[in-house]
Amino acid sequence: MIAPALRLTGIEAFYGTAQALFGVDLEVPAGAVTVLLGRNGAGKSTTLKAAMGLVDVRAGRVFVGTRDVTGAPAYKVARTGLGYVPETRRVFGGLSVEENLVVGERVGVAGTVAWTRERLFDLFPPLAGMRERLAGQLSGGEQQMLTIARTLMGNPQIILLDEPSEGLAPVIVQQIAATIRTLAAEGLTVLLSEQNVRFAMHVASRAAVIERGRILVEGPIADIAADEGVREAYLTP
Ligand SMILES: Nc1ncnc2c1ncn2[C@@H]1O[C@H](COP(=O)(O)OP(=O)(O)O)[C@@H](O)[C@H]1O
Ligand SMILES: [Mg+2]
Repeated sequence: MIAPALRLTGIEAFYGTAQALFGVDLEVPAGAVTVLLGRNGAGKSTTLKAAMGLVDVRAGRVFVGTRDVTGAPAYKVARTGLGYVPETRRVFGGLSVEENLVVGERVGVAGTVAWTRERLFDLFPPLAGMRERLAGQLSGGEQQMLTIARTLMGNPQIILLDEPSEGLAPVIVQQIAATIRTLAAEGLTVLLSEQNVRFAMHVASRAAVIERGRILVEGPIADIAADEGVREAYLTP
């Protein structure tokens, strides 16, 4: 078996004295889209933050490829090829769309530059028509696209997307889904968190279900989506 692009083993994560993850194991295969499914408060964001070095991990290990990045600060984890798009879209509101992309520019781990501004404007056509516009004036969906685009400017090998469809209009959600599939087709490894099983089925090949800080099941998305028991007990329809 090919080594996973990202692997979490036995992660115990805390916010102060409150424990949020209890022995989370997760394998993210290279070049595919994996979705972490679970309801609000289940531990999805915390799992992504644990991978990225953004939460207090007191036990367990995080591997990017064969490299152990446990305990490394986020900027160092980013240098191993991990890109992270948080739940709260973060654009620089006072900068133009194009300037936001320039800010994210960085050569990839192996000296690779897979993504340029022009390629990203091809990937997100709505952004191409608003290069000069201030990012703060964009709609929620446009800001989500810009946040993903800016992260891609860092030429990551793995991208973590925390609930990319949240709060967006259905037509925008479809665009984001298509974009995620394109990214995987380009060879990028994707781990996204999601509450919506339908959206997940459209983009992911593998899924893991998290509930109360524990991974309950993992496997092909089709199997998990077809499991009525899992759906009813742990997922939002
Ligand atoms: N900053 C925080 N401080 C304290 N507790 C938090 C914080 N963020 C999340 N939690 C708690 O950690 C648990 C997992 O939250 P989270 O990972 O955000 O869930 P999800 O992303 O699946 O909605 C929840 O019980 C939540 O209340
Ligand atoms: Mg969350």
